[in-house]
Amino acid sequence: MRIGIVGAGALGSILGGLLFEAGHELVLVERDADEVQVVSQQGLWLEGVSGERLLQPKIVSPHTEEIEADLVLVLVKSYDTSSAVAQVRDILSKDGVVLTLQNGIGNFETLNDAFPGRVLLGTTTVGAMTLGKGKFRHTGFGQTHLGELDGGIRERTEAVAAALRGMNAGPVHVVDNAVGCVWSKLIINAAINAPATLLRVRNGDLPTGDAGRELIHRVVEECLHIVREKGIALIFDDPEARVIEVCKGTAENLNSMFQDILAGRATEIDYINGAIAREAAALGISAEVNRTLALLIKSLEATADKRVADKA
Ligand code: PAF
Repeated sequence: MRIGIVGAGALGSILGGLLFEAGHELVLVERDADEVQVVSQQGLWLEGVSGERLLQPKIVSPHTEEIEADLVLVLVKSYDTSSAVAQVRDILSKDGVVLTLQNGIGNFETLNDAFPGRVLLGTTTVGAMTLGKGKFRHTGFGQTHLGELDGGIRERTEAVAAALRGMNAGPVHVVDNAVGCVWSKLIINAAINAPATLLRVRNGDLPTGDAGRELIHRVVEECLHIVREKGIALIFDDPEARVIEVCKGTAENLNSMFQDILAGRATEIDYINGAIAREAAALGISAEVNRTLALLIKSLEATADKRVADKA
């Protein structure tokens, strides 16, 4: 399959490398010119659970290449999805489809407005970390779920899944409830990322005390209220228990939002707790804990250069 990946960050580069190794015709589109230069000249270094190797996939800057991709995988940060639309348009073939596996909500809608009826959505728990320019660690195999907005399972859905199954990343499932998958992952990110970032702890340390568990409980309860109102079916019976399991299963992780804050990057808060607060407001219900978490993270971003150092 001819595959384009828009966004060669950690996950884009790991999935890109694995798809390239699986024999697909691949192009990575990345707006960081230094990243494009390093990978073009020195190759893409991958290490971690799938082994150490140097690969030579094609990587280009936006708007420098017009290929005819059968599939364009969008893996930019959620706040860059709108600007990624033009990059997708450059490389998507007439009958090609787009797949978003990004965190948060709102990405599908942005892409589907631009490419109506041609966008699939889903989630992945494949673990990836940036080590430096052109260097990435594949930190864990994971489950990938994908499907259509209306729950239909079409030839194109199966074709995309078959292409992804060829890579050494973990099981790939076609589902009739992709929206439920996205909301299920959203709840996990909402309950872990902002709280653990504000507390500056690893995922495993978040639910160790009563207050941390109460925070998780309140975030999840607000999400469940929205989910019930919207008639969305989650993919696990006890979301709160699932959040605790994920904290334990990823105990050593600094979550992705925490990594963004530490690196001085913007976070995806507007697409996680911020989006939950907006969904609640639209339904006329309260999500004050999610709203407050969003405000705190936005304030953290805005005061990055004002931080008072810990006392030695
Ligand atoms: O965003 C993240 O970091 C991850 O989705 C998760 C599951 C919270 C693990 O760190």
